[in-house]
Amino acid sequence: MKLARRIDNLPPYLFAEIDKRVDEKRAQGVDVISLGIGDPVEPTPQNIINKLCEQANNPANHRYPSYFGMPAFRQSIAKWYKKRFDVDLDPDTEVLPLIGSKEGIAHLNFAVLDPGDTTLIADPGYPAYNTSTILAGVNPVHTPLLEENDFLPDLDSIDENTAKDAKMIVLNYPNNPTSAIATDDFFKDLVSWADKNQVIVAHDNPYSEITFDGYVAPSFLQFPGAKDVGIEFHSLSKTYNMTGWRIGWACGNAKVIEALGRVKTNIDSGIFNAIQYAGIEALEGPQDIINEMCDIYTRRRDMVMEALDKIGLRAHKPKATIYIWAKVPDGYTSASFATHVLDSAGVIVAPGNAYGPSGEGFIRICLSVKDDRLAEALERIKDSL
Ligand SMILES: Cc1ncc(COP(=O)(O)O)c(C=O)c1O
Repeated sequence: MKLARRIDNLPPYLFAEIDKRVDEKRAQGVDVISLGIGDPVEPTPQNIINKLCEQANNPANHRYPSYFGMPAFRQSIAKWYKKRFDVDLDPDTEVLPLIGSKEGIAHLNFAVLDPGDTTLIADPGYPAYNTSTILAGVNPVHTPLLEENDFLPDLDSIDENTAKDAKMIVLNYPNNPTSAIATDDFFKDLVSWADKNQVIVAHDNPYSEITFDGYVAPSFLQFPGAKDVGIEFHSLSKTYNMTGWRIGWACGNAKVIEALGRVKTNIDSGIFNAIQYAGIEALEGPQDIINEMCDIYTRRRDMVMEALDKIGLRAHKPKATIYIWAKVPDGYTSASFATHVLDSAGVIVAPGNAYGPSGEGFIRICLSVKDDRLAEALERIKDSL
C-alpha cells in the first residue's frame, strides 16, 4: 500500500502528539497536569447550551445545513462586527461560517494558492498555518516574530523579491503563541504593504475578546483599505468556551470569501443548524461570560508571572490571550526543557520550536487549567529546577 507523498512530509499535529504523551504518562500512573493546549476548562454558558438543545429537537434542523451558513447566523456575525469593531460586512458576500476557524485556515490555501506558490507565515505561529501549506503543496516562507520587534513581523525586512512572489501572509494578533499584541500603526502598515505587493492578508483573530488591564483588541478589518486586501478569521471557541462545538467564520474581502466558500462546498456540507442557532445566541445573548473569563485569566496570568519570576524564568506580561511565552533557563532548548518538566514534574508545556524555528528558546504555558492545578503545576516546576 502506498500513501501520498504529502503525508510523508506532514508532521504529526502538535497537540495530537501532546495528547499521546499525556496518555502514556497517565498510563504509567503519573498525575499529569497539562498546560499544553489552549482549551478552556470552564463550561459553555447555559443559555447557549439551552439554545442548542431546543434547536436540536426541531426536525427541520436535522437535514443538510446551507453550504454557506444560515443567513440568520451570517447576519448575526455582521451585526457583531458592526457593534464590536464598527466594521460593515455584507452578510451575503463578506461572511462565511466555518466548522471552526482551523478548518477555514487550512482550506484557504486551496482557495488562493496554487502548488508551488509562496505564502508568508508567522514564525512562531499556530501550527495549522504551516501544516496546511504542506497539504496544499505551497511554499511557506517563515516571517520571524522576534522579541526585539515585540513579536511583530518586520515588514521592511521582507526582501522585495519574496514580497513580490508571495500571494498571502497569515498572522494573528493578539498572538498565539507569543501573546503579543499589535499596534494600530502595525495594522495600517500591513494594509499598505499588502496593497503595494498585492499580497492577501489572512488575519486570524480568535483572541480579540480575551484581553486584560483595559486593553481592547482591534479587528484587522477596521483599518482603512483592509477589506480590499484581506480577510479575518474569527471563532466562538475561546470567547464563549466553545472549542468542542466547532464553529467560527471568515469575513472580509468578498472575492477571497467566495473562493473559500467554493472550496468548502466541495468538501464539507456546513455546520449543524442547531449549532449555528447556538452561535447566534452566543453573539446576541448575555455577554457576562467574557468579563468573567477575562477576570479568571487575569488572575491565572498573575499567578504564572509571579511564579516564573520566583523560578527565574523570563516572560512578558501579556495583555491578551490565554498564553504565557516564557524563555527557557540557560542550558536548555525548548524541547529539552519541555521534556525535563514532563519527566521531573509531570507537567506538560508546549515547546516553542514546535510553533516554528523562531520559537526556539521558549515554552508556552496555557492558562486554561483550574487555579489549584495551575498552582500545583507551577510549584512542581519550581521544585524540578
Ligand atoms: C491562533 C489560532 N487560530 C485558530 C485556532 C483554531 O480555533 P477553532 O477552534 O475556531 O478552530 C486557534 C486555536 O487554538 C488558535 O490559537
